[in-house]
Amino acid sequence: MLNIGEGLIQLHTRDTSYILYTGRQGLPECLHYGGRIGVDDAAPLLPKVEAGYGGDVVCRDGQAALSSLRLDLSPVNRGDYRAPALLAELPGGATTADYRFQTSRQLKEAPAAGMPHGREPDEVLALDFAEPGGLQVELFYSVFCEANVITRRMRVTNRCAGPVRLLRCLSYQLDLPGRDYELYNLTGAWARETQLTRRPLAPGILRFGNGTGASGNRVNPFFFLARRGAGETTGEVYGFNLVYSGSHEGSVEVDGFCRTRVSQGLWSEGFSWPLAPGQSFTTPEAVLTFSDKGFDGMSQNMHHFVKNHIIPPRWRNAPRPVLVNNWEGTYFNFNEGKLLAMARVAAKLGAELFVLDDGWFGERNSDKAGLGDYDVNRKKLPGGLSGLAGRVNALGMDFGLWVEPEMVNRDSKLYRAHPDWAVVSPGVTPATGRHQLVLDICRPEVREYIINSVNATLDSANISYVKWDMNRHISDNYSPALEDQGQFHHSYILGLYELLRGICEARPDILFEGCASGGNRYDLGMLYYMPQFWISDDSDAHERQRIQTGASYGYPPCTMGCHVSAVPNHQTLRVTALETRFHTAMFGLLGYELDMTALTRSQRADVKAQIAYYKAHRKLLQFGEFHRLKSPFEEAGCRWMVCSPDGDEALVGDFLGLMVPNADEPPMRLAHLDPEALYEIAVRPMKIDIETFGGLINYILPVHLNPDGLLVRTAGKFYRMDTEAERYTASGSLLCRAGLARMQNFSGAGYSDSLRFLHDFASRAYYLRRLDDPYTAT
Ligand code: DGJ
Repeated sequence: MLNIGEGLIQLHTRDTSYILYTGRQGLPECLHYGGRIGVDDAAPLLPKVEAGYGGDVVCRDGQAALSSLRLDLSPVNRGDYRAPALLAELPGGATTADYRFQTSRQLKEAPAAGMPHGREPDEVLALDFAEPGGLQVELFYSVFCEANVITRRMRVTNRCAGPVRLLRCLSYQLDLPGRDYELYNLTGAWARETQLTRRPLAPGILRFGNGTGASGNRVNPFFFLARRGAGETTGEVYGFNLVYSGSHEGSVEVDGFCRTRVSQGLWSEGFSWPLAPGQSFTTPEAVLTFSDKGFDGMSQNMHHFVKNHIIPPRWRNAPRPVLVNNWEGTYFNFNEGKLLAMARVAAKLGAELFVLDDGWFGERNSDKAGLGDYDVNRKKLPGGLSGLAGRVNALGMDFGLWVEPEMVNRDSKLYRAHPDWAVVSPGVTPATGRHQLVLDICRPEVREYIINSVNATLDSANISYVKWDMNRHISDNYSPALEDQGQFHHSYILGLYELLRGICEARPDILFEGCASGGNRYDLGMLYYMPQFWISDDSDAHERQRIQTGASYGYPPCTMGCHVSAVPNHQTLRVTALETRFHTAMFGLLGYELDMTALTRSQRADVKAQIAYYKAHRKLLQFGEFHRLKSPFEEAGCRWMVCSPDGDEALVGDFLGLMVPNADEPPMRLAHLDPEALYEIAVRPMKIDIETFGGLINYILPVHLNPDGLLVRTAGKFYRMDTEAERYTASGSLLCRAGLARMQNFSGAGYSDSLRFLHDFASRAYYLRRLDDPYTAT
């Protein structure tokens, strides 16, 4: 809700309020951002400070020093010594800028300027400011009521007599009272994305971000600030993100008065944007949320926003298919026969989509050649894409394809024809990444070529899904198309969005999945065009629990591609149980990425049962509300829960780290259930291979057998044990407040069928269903 009056501007979402005041000094003061206050309650917030503090510089005689104000836009060189969101060189070279409030407006939408943004805001506010020389600044606030999100962006227009150059132009600055916060970022590297990193604030500036040309795996644009003492379900937490896919930065600055300034936007190192008179520049949109219900409350807001206001509406409620991808099963070494053999097994086991990954075109038999040449390799696929797609369709599955449109190998026909299309700085041999160069999509002719060639490929066969990859950081920043090379990073991303509009938006029924060597560009900008993302090349279940937990702070699991792969795992050489790999992947968008033909008979039976279980609970898993019950960033093990929005059902995944004998086994406590309701809770039944027991087999069976012998191996093919069968009826209050006492873990003694047989990285899944009879606590 938007309420404007007497310089006091109130933005309210369901549970939050953002109160602005423009009534003194003509500047936007943020009087409150946090929990919702009554619409008539804001007046006592009006500022009382009029005198400056000792040593302060006063920008307008008799008025408060800027350093004591909490400002959404800071005049430059006028006494606010915190880092400003906007820094511009005005005609003549001065950077001093004294903005004054002009007017406020209500709009239907804020300007997008060719960038993705939150869809369907409830309300939009624009605040206009002007600087005496003619620089005009508009601050936009979009309100998303149910998501408890307010987005911000800024547009700067040159109404001066001469040219202006933007030196820094962030999406927002937000001043919070106090400094009693901890900063949480998602940091990492290739195959180790979205690791939760915590830092307490101290006086000074903490600057973080990613300058590799993509939103990046080093520091994701999502971060949050938690008031000291806040935890998973309690305490005050502010969440922040950008709807942007390129280099970005954020900073948190604690000033001498112990106030905290948060700002975020385009990476400013090397940034420089010329504005001729009359020209404007619009920043990417930033996403702000607040919750007093801890990390979980903040995550629920972000998840709601992504599900309802970011991903393409076509996919909001559309169930995503169980896919099989050939990459880790074959890498570049495949032909049609091999792919169809894999597809046949996949179809029998219940998969719905077969995805052909890298290596299907040109001379692409390794990562050294072929990128850029999307003509089918007929040696591998004699029937072309349409032939293969037709055969996959005949098996009852959809067909999907991998592409990497932004890149080129030197060893390719495209590069030989257009060597000047690669990003190169004059006189410097360009750096390569994975043997490839970056296509200069700042140039319109390059964009046109890519749009036409990718669309021609997509039209050449019955393709229902596309994996859009991007496998290197950007370097050698230069484009002959630009007036100022400080425009390079952002122009690349504007070029990328034009490609995505020309390809993804033009084919709304194709399911696009983003990928950038895994999660190197997992952000709201990409999710605006592609509802899902391959969030890491690391498919090891144990690592994935950390990666998926980290990502879940800002992004809902319905955006995360998660695959079951072979063991030893190709990234970590770790061996985890097939069921654990499945339980981990099923909390995202389930896929299998292994050679299906290599699965044993019993593994095929397991996979078939897994896919059936996933399909039975797909709606809950893909569209339910995801919660973290136990974080691998805080303790060994991991526990996740997903609840249906109506509270009638839930699924819990419980993951062990290393097995510890005779460890304390506290009851399993859940959360987010109706304390008054009665639930049935049942463990997912699984099979255990008898080889798991090694020499112990002789204590279980009446006859003596060699554990490595043929008999055990042969018997193991036909006989497998059932895991414990646990099924209870319990109240929500018991499950959440006391916890479920489960069967004891096997700890080296006393075999019986009322034990749970766990091992390193073992896991269990529990399905909960609310029983019809209302529970009455006695
Ligand atoms: C990197 C991706 O993350 C992988 O999943 C795979 O598609 C390869 N690229 C193919 O080159």
